Amino acid sequence: MAPVATQTMDVKSIKSLAESPALSSVPSAYAFNINSNDEADPNDPEFAIPIVDMSLLTSGSPDQRSKIVHNLIKICQEWGFFIAINHGVPESLMKGMIDACHGFFSLPDEEKEEFKSGNDVLEMFKYGTSYNLALDKVLLWRDFFKVRVHPEFYSLYKPACFSEVSMEFSKRTREVALEITRAISESLGLEPNYIHDAMNMDRGLQMLAANYYPPCPQPEHAIGIPHHTDHGLVTLLIQNEMNGLQVEHNGKWLTVNGPANGFFVNLADQMQILTNGKYKSVMHRATVNSKATRISIAIPHGPSVDTLIAPAPELLEKEGQAPKYIGMNYKEYIQLQQSGKNYMKSTFDHILA
Ligand code: OGA
Ligand code: NI
Repeated sequence: MAPVATQTMDVKSIKSLAESPALSSVPSAYAFNINSNDEADPNDPEFAIPIVDMSLLTSGSPDQRSKIVHNLIKICQEWGFFIAINHGVPESLMKGMIDACHGFFSLPDEEKEEFKSGNDVLEMFKYGTSYNLALDKVLLWRDFFKVRVHPEFYSLYKPACFSEVSMEFSKRTREVALEITRAISESLGLEPNYIHDAMNMDRGLQMLAANYYPPCPQPEHAIGIPHHTDHGLVTLLIQNEMNGLQVEHNGKWLTVNGPANGFFVNLADQMQILTNGKYKSVMHRATVNSKATRISIAIPHGPSVDTLIAPAPELLEKEGQAPKYIGMNYKEYIQLQQSGKNYMKSTFDHILA
């Protein structure tokens, strides 16, 4: 423990470390081996990522909508992941949001440090490197910030454009996420507003979480974010022109490569709990590359923090099942997931009924 801790003390940002001219290999504190044998062949039809045309949900005929809803059953069971296209969020806004995040990460380290805060996930905003320097056993090749944008909207106050762009972006992505939860509710045979209402999404926690992955001299010996599932209901993600997100599918890691203006959508833990394990919170990770900086922006949507989440009684009845998970308050779940004892491990093990 001790040697790693000493080395971490002076890491201000991975950006400045990666920019140091002497860096030709991955420092030992960051050493993480990726096994390329576990990677999926993207040309294998088994690994063709599902695409969901959102315009058919919002403005298609009833037949078109029900076909998408029907497709979602298989997608949510087998993948827990898809790419949403024709979602209505302007490409210029998506690009503006990436540029604003780039602007933030480009600030001098001292200015970014103003946004450092404690380790409570419910802080208004948080900036840092790696994941949690006090807990990390292996350091991550990324800098990040997170801002809470719902139910109250908070913003970084630098760069100047950030607040306006992030407000519009948060609002528009929320509309997409809520449309997705309506379609998912229907795919479960429930009322379209079931998830929204049961999860108190009118007060739901939404974050804007940006990651900065600078080029890495030995990308196969470092990791941006190791395998994990997200704690909320559904996460939308966009990136600049660099790939790096991998999702686990049929025991392999698949690099997500899709239309530049689509949203990568993954189901998260509360969806798996609510559906009693029918729908899957997909395991995913972020790899790094040696060529150019990758920026990703994840927008996780969850229940309100005071909601007690347990398998939906309506579904248990319909499927004649016993609950697989005990109920837990969303805030406690997040704290459990991010606590030292559970760090980077599956939280599901703790909530088995
Ligand atoms: C995350 C995440 C993946 C990526 O921020 O939770 O999974 O591609 N990010 O940056
Ligand atoms: Ni994630």
